[in-house]
Amino acid sequence: MVCGKCSRKLHGGFGRKGKHGLAEVLKDALKAAGRRREMRVIEVGCLGLCPKRAVTAVSSTQPGQMLAVPEGADVVQVLARLSPAPASTP
Ligand code: FES
Repeated sequence: MVCGKCSRKLHGGFGRKGKHGLAEVLKDALKAAGRRREMRVIEVGCLGLCPKRAVTAVSSTQPGQMLAVPEGADVVQVLARLSPAPASTP
């Protein structure tokens, strides 16, 4: 879950030119990693953390942990924090 209100306040802030929202960039990163069907990214209302120049994100697998993702953060690292890649089975 990505806070839509934080995203609106940043007017983008992510992606190569900083023009895209976190949810959009996360979806693109999942698609590029071939994991688009494993995880859904949804924008929700205010989650109550309200960081300055960052976007709040929460993973349903770790509901007790909120991330304040700073503007321009590396989305691959954010994705790794939110949803570690499943271990490959031999
Ligand atoms: S505005 Fe995003 S957590 Fe409150």
